[in-house]
Amino acid sequence: MIINTYPSKDEMGAAAAKKAAEGLKKAIAEKGSAGLIVATGSSQFEMLSALVKEPGIAWDKVTAFHLDEYVGLSADHPASFRGYLKKRFVDLLPDLKVFHYVNAEGDAEAECARLDALIAQTPIDVACIGIGENGHLAFNDPPADFETKKPYLVVNLDEACRKQQLGEGWFPTFEDVPTTAISMSIHHIMMSKTIVCTVPDERKAQAVKDSLEGPVTNTVPGSMLQKHSDCHIFLDEPAASLLS
Ligand code: GLP
Repeated sequence: MIINTYPSKDEMGAAAAKKAAEGLKKAIAEKGSAGLIVATGSSQFEMLSALVKEPGIAWDKVTAFHLDEYVGLSADHPASFRGYLKKRFVDLLPDLKVFHYVNAEGDAEAECARLDALIAQTPIDVACIGIGENGHLAFNDPPADFETKKPYLVVNLDEACRKQQLGEGWFPTFEDVPTTAISMSIHHIMMSKTIVCTVPDERKAQAVKDSLEGPVTNTVPGSMLQKHSDCHIFLDEPAASLLS
Protein backbone atom coordinates (compact mmCIF):
# COMPACT_ATOMS: atom_id res chain seq x y z
CA MET A 1 0.00 0.00 0.00
CA ILE A 2 1.37 3.40 -0.97
CA ILE A 3 0.22 6.36 1.13
CA ASN A 4 0.45 9.88 -0.35
CA THR A 5 -0.42 13.03 1.61
CA TYR A 6 -1.06 16.49 0.11
CA PRO A 7 -1.42 19.99 1.56
CA SER A 8 -4.74 20.64 -0.20
CA LYS A 9 -7.76 18.67 -1.42
CA ASP A 10 -7.17 19.91 -4.97
CA GLU A 11 -3.62 18.50 -5.01
CA MET A 12 -4.88 15.25 -3.46
CA GLY A 13 -7.62 14.93 -6.10
CA ALA A 14 -5.29 15.79 -8.97
CA ALA A 15 -2.74 13.16 -7.89
CA ALA A 16 -5.43 10.50 -7.40
CA ALA A 17 -6.90 11.25 -10.82
CA LYS A 18 -3.45 10.90 -12.38
CA LYS A 19 -3.00 7.48 -10.83
CA ALA A 20 -6.45 6.39 -12.02
CA ALA A 21 -5.74 7.72 -15.53
CA GLU A 22 -2.44 5.85 -15.61
CA GLY A 23 -4.22 2.56 -14.82
CA LEU A 24 -6.91 3.15 -17.46
CA LYS A 25 -4.38 4.10 -20.15
CA LYS A 26 -2.22 1.06 -19.37
CA ALA A 27 -5.21 -1.29 -19.59
CA ILE A 28 -6.33 0.23 -22.91
CA ALA A 29 -2.80 -0.04 -24.33
CA GLU A 30 -2.50 -3.67 -23.25
CA LYS A 31 -5.93 -5.09 -24.10
CA GLY A 32 -7.91 -2.39 -25.91
CA SER A 33 -10.39 -1.76 -23.11
CA ALA A 34 -10.63 -0.83 -19.44
CA GLY A 35 -13.04 -1.41 -16.58
CA LEU A 36 -13.55 1.32 -13.97
CA ILE A 37 -15.47 1.65 -10.70
CA VAL A 38 -16.52 5.10 -9.52
CA ALA A 39 -17.63 6.06 -6.03
CA THR A 40 -19.47 9.11 -4.77
CA GLY A 41 -19.57 11.16 -1.58
CA SER A 42 -17.72 14.37 -0.79
CA SER A 43 -14.40 12.47 -0.80
CA GLN A 44 -14.59 12.10 -4.58
CA PHE A 45 -15.32 15.74 -5.59
CA GLU A 46 -11.76 16.87 -6.41
CA MET A 47 -10.67 13.50 -7.81
CA LEU A 48 -13.60 13.26 -10.24
CA SER A 49 -13.31 16.84 -11.43
CA ALA A 50 -9.62 16.18 -12.23
CA LEU A 51 -10.24 12.74 -13.75
CA VAL A 52 -12.71 13.99 -16.37
CA LYS A 53 -10.04 16.51 -17.52
CA GLU A 54 -7.15 14.02 -17.68
CA PRO A 55 -5.71 14.03 -21.20
CA GLY A 56 -5.18 10.93 -23.30
CA ILE A 57 -7.85 8.58 -21.92
CA ALA A 58 -9.76 6.80 -24.72
CA TRP A 59 -13.08 7.00 -22.87
CA ASP A 60 -14.82 5.13 -25.69
CA LYS A 61 -12.89 2.06 -24.51
CA VAL A 62 -13.93 2.43 -20.85
CA THR A 63 -16.79 0.53 -19.22
CA ALA A 64 -17.65 2.09 -15.87
CA PHE A 65 -19.66 0.80 -12.91
CA HIS A 66 -21.38 2.73 -10.15
CA LEU A 67 -20.21 1.59 -6.69
CA ASP A 68 -23.29 2.06 -4.49
CA GLU A 69 -26.71 3.69 -4.19
CA TYR A 70 -29.50 4.12 -1.64
CA VAL A 71 -32.54 1.88 -1.88
CA GLY A 72 -35.69 3.79 -2.77
CA LEU A 73 -34.17 7.15 -3.71
CA SER A 74 -35.18 8.70 -7.02
CA ALA A 75 -32.45 9.94 -9.38
CA ASP A 76 -33.59 13.55 -8.95
CA HIS A 77 -33.26 13.50 -5.11
CA PRO A 78 -30.33 15.80 -4.12
CA ALA A 79 -28.62 12.86 -2.34
CA SER A 80 -29.01 10.41 -5.23
CA PHE A 81 -25.65 8.97 -6.27
CA ARG A 82 -27.02 8.46 -9.78
CA GLY A 83 -27.69 12.19 -9.97
CA TYR A 84 -24.25 12.90 -8.48
CA LEU A 85 -22.45 10.73 -11.04
CA LYS A 86 -24.52 11.94 -13.99
CA LYS A 87 -23.62 15.54 -13.15
CA ARG A 88 -19.97 15.06 -12.14
CA PHE A 89 -18.88 12.23 -14.42
CA VAL A 90 -21.18 10.77 -17.09
CA ASP A 91 -22.48 14.04 -18.62
CA LEU A 92 -18.92 15.37 -18.82
CA LEU A 93 -17.67 12.35 -20.81
CA PRO A 94 -19.82 12.07 -23.93
CA ASP A 95 -17.44 9.46 -25.39
CA LEU A 96 -17.64 7.08 -22.41
CA LYS A 97 -18.41 3.59 -23.78
CA VAL A 98 -20.98 2.70 -21.13
CA PHE A 99 -21.87 3.62 -17.58
CA HIS A 100 -23.74 1.05 -15.50
CA TYR A 101 -25.74 2.89 -12.85
CA VAL A 102 -27.07 1.22 -9.72
CA ASN A 103 -30.81 1.92 -9.74
CA ALA A 104 -32.32 0.78 -6.44
CA GLU A 105 -35.72 2.37 -6.86
CA GLY A 106 -37.42 -0.93 -7.66
CA ASP A 107 -36.63 -4.51 -6.63
CA ALA A 108 -33.14 -4.19 -5.10
CA GLU A 109 -32.30 -7.92 -5.25
CA ALA A 110 -33.24 -8.02 -8.94
CA GLU A 111 -31.05 -4.97 -9.55
CA CYS A 112 -28.11 -6.72 -7.82
CA ALA A 113 -28.63 -9.78 -10.05
CA ARG A 114 -28.69 -7.57 -13.18
CA LEU A 115 -25.46 -5.81 -12.15
CA ASP A 116 -23.77 -9.07 -11.05
CA ALA A 117 -24.26 -10.46 -14.58
CA LEU A 118 -22.87 -7.29 -16.21
CA ILE A 119 -19.81 -6.95 -13.99
CA ALA A 120 -18.96 -10.64 -14.36
CA GLN A 121 -18.08 -9.81 -17.99
CA THR A 122 -15.88 -6.81 -17.11
CA PRO A 123 -12.54 -7.19 -15.35
CA ILE A 124 -12.00 -4.04 -13.30
CA ASP A 125 -8.67 -2.29 -13.87
CA VAL A 126 -9.17 0.73 -11.62
CA ALA A 127 -11.47 1.23 -8.63
CA CYS A 128 -11.80 4.80 -7.38
CA ILE A 129 -13.13 4.65 -3.83
CA GLY A 130 -13.21 6.47 -0.49
CA ILE A 131 -13.36 5.51 3.19
CA GLY A 132 -16.31 6.63 5.33
CA GLU A 133 -16.17 8.14 8.83
CA ASN A 134 -17.09 4.71 10.20
CA GLY A 135 -14.37 3.02 8.14
CA HIS A 136 -16.76 1.75 5.46
CA LEU A 137 -15.74 0.94 1.89
CA ALA A 138 -18.65 1.66 -0.45
CA PHE A 139 -21.70 1.05 1.77
CA ASN A 140 -20.18 -1.96 3.55
CA ASP A 141 -20.64 -0.68 7.09
CA PRO A 142 -19.04 -2.51 10.04
CA PRO A 143 -19.20 -5.43 10.58
CA ALA A 144 -18.73 -5.88 6.81
CA ASP A 145 -19.19 -9.18 5.03
CA PHE A 146 -15.61 -10.10 4.04
CA GLU A 147 -16.67 -13.57 2.85
CA THR A 148 -19.34 -13.13 0.17
CA LYS A 149 -18.15 -13.30 -3.41
CA LYS A 150 -21.36 -11.79 -4.81
CA PRO A 151 -20.45 -8.51 -6.58
CA TYR A 152 -23.48 -6.43 -5.50
CA LEU A 153 -25.32 -6.76 -2.17
CA VAL A 154 -28.32 -5.23 -0.44
CA VAL A 155 -26.92 -3.84 2.84
CA ASN A 156 -28.19 -2.10 5.97
CA LEU A 157 -26.76 1.33 6.76
CA ASP A 158 -25.60 1.87 10.34
CA GLU A 159 -26.21 4.94 12.48
CA ALA A 160 -22.72 6.42 11.97
CA CYS A 161 -23.02 6.12 8.21
CA ARG A 162 -26.46 7.72 8.19
CA LYS A 163 -25.24 10.51 10.52
CA GLN A 164 -22.35 11.22 8.14
CA GLN A 165 -24.76 11.67 5.24
CA LEU A 166 -26.89 14.01 7.35
CA GLY A 167 -23.78 15.90 8.53
CA GLU A 168 -22.64 16.43 4.94
CA GLY A 169 -26.00 18.05 4.24
CA TRP A 170 -27.38 15.56 1.72
CA PHE A 171 -30.64 15.06 3.70
CA PRO A 172 -32.81 17.47 5.76
CA THR A 173 -33.25 15.15 8.77
CA PHE A 174 -31.76 11.86 10.08
CA GLU A 175 -35.07 10.10 9.41
CA ASP A 176 -34.81 11.02 5.74
CA VAL A 177 -31.54 9.06 5.32
CA PRO A 178 -32.40 5.63 3.88
CA THR A 179 -31.65 2.58 6.03
CA THR A 180 -30.69 0.28 3.16
CA ALA A 181 -28.58 0.49 0.02
CA ILE A 182 -27.08 -1.55 -2.78
CA SER A 183 -23.31 -1.78 -2.42
CA MET A 184 -20.51 -3.47 -4.28
CA SER A 185 -19.04 -6.11 -1.97
CA ILE A 186 -15.60 -5.84 -0.39
CA HIS A 187 -14.52 -8.96 -2.28
CA HIS A 188 -15.43 -7.43 -5.62
CA ILE A 189 -13.72 -4.11 -4.87
CA MET A 190 -10.61 -6.09 -3.92
CA MET A 191 -10.64 -7.90 -7.29
CA SER A 192 -9.79 -4.60 -9.02
CA LYS A 193 -6.28 -4.52 -10.44
CA THR A 194 -5.51 -1.07 -9.00
CA ILE A 195 -7.30 0.71 -6.15
CA VAL A 196 -7.20 4.50 -5.93
CA CYS A 197 -8.55 5.47 -2.50
CA THR A 198 -9.07 9.19 -1.88
CA VAL A 199 -9.85 10.40 1.65
CA PRO A 200 -9.85 14.05 2.71
CA ASP A 201 -10.93 15.72 5.98
CA GLU A 202 -10.04 15.62 9.67
CA ARG A 203 -13.33 13.86 10.44
CA LYS A 204 -11.89 10.81 8.60
CA ALA A 205 -8.55 10.78 10.49
CA GLN A 206 -9.46 7.98 12.94
CA ALA A 207 -10.98 5.80 10.20
CA VAL A 208 -7.85 6.37 8.09
CA LYS A 209 -5.56 5.39 10.98
CA ASP A 210 -7.62 2.29 11.82
CA SER A 211 -7.81 1.27 8.14
CA LEU A 212 -4.14 1.75 7.32
CA GLU A 213 -2.38 0.95 10.59
CA GLY A 214 -4.78 -1.24 12.58
CA PRO A 215 -5.46 -4.97 12.34
CA VAL A 216 -7.38 -6.26 9.32
CA THR A 217 -10.88 -6.76 10.69
CA ASN A 218 -14.41 -6.51 9.38
CA THR A 219 -15.20 -4.01 12.15
CA VAL A 220 -12.98 -1.62 10.12
CA PRO A 221 -13.94 -2.49 6.53
CA GLY A 222 -11.24 -0.19 5.10
CA SER A 223 -8.54 -2.30 6.79
CA MET A 224 -9.03 -4.88 4.02
CA LEU A 225 -7.16 -2.50 1.71
CA GLN A 226 -3.93 -3.59 3.47
CA LYS A 227 -4.33 -6.95 1.68
CA HIS A 228 -4.45 -5.44 -1.83
CA SER A 229 -1.30 -5.68 -3.94
CA ASP A 230 -1.71 -2.34 -5.79
CA CYS A 231 -3.54 0.06 -3.53
CA HIS A 232 -2.76 3.79 -3.60
CA ILE A 233 -4.07 6.04 -0.83
CA PHE A 234 -4.47 9.80 -1.37
CA LEU A 235 -5.00 11.90 1.75
CA ASP A 236 -5.04 15.56 2.66
CA GLU A 237 -3.03 16.57 5.75
CA PRO A 238 -6.01 16.63 8.16
CA ALA A 239 -7.06 13.10 7.14
CA ALA A 240 -3.47 11.91 7.64
CA SER A 241 -3.04 13.70 10.97
CA LEU A 242 -3.29 10.61 13.21
CA LEU A 243 -0.96 8.38 11.18
CA SER A 244 2.23 7.41 12.98
C1 GLP B 1 -20.05 6.86 0.77
C2 GLP B 1 -20.36 6.48 -0.67
C3 GLP B 1 -19.28 5.66 -1.28
C4 GLP B 1 -17.93 6.15 -0.85
C5 GLP B 1 -17.77 6.07 0.65
C6 GLP B 1 -16.79 7.03 1.24
O1 GLP B 1 -21.08 6.84 1.64
N1 GLP B 1 -21.64 5.86 -0.82
O2 GLP B 1 -19.43 5.65 -2.69
O3 GLP B 1 -16.89 5.41 -1.41
O4 GLP B 1 -18.98 6.14 1.31
O5 GLP B 1 -16.98 8.29 0.75
P1 GLP B 1 -17.63 9.52 1.55
O6 GLP B 1 -17.21 9.38 2.94
O7 GLP B 1 -17.10 10.70 0.87
O8 GLP B 1 -19.12 9.46 1.44
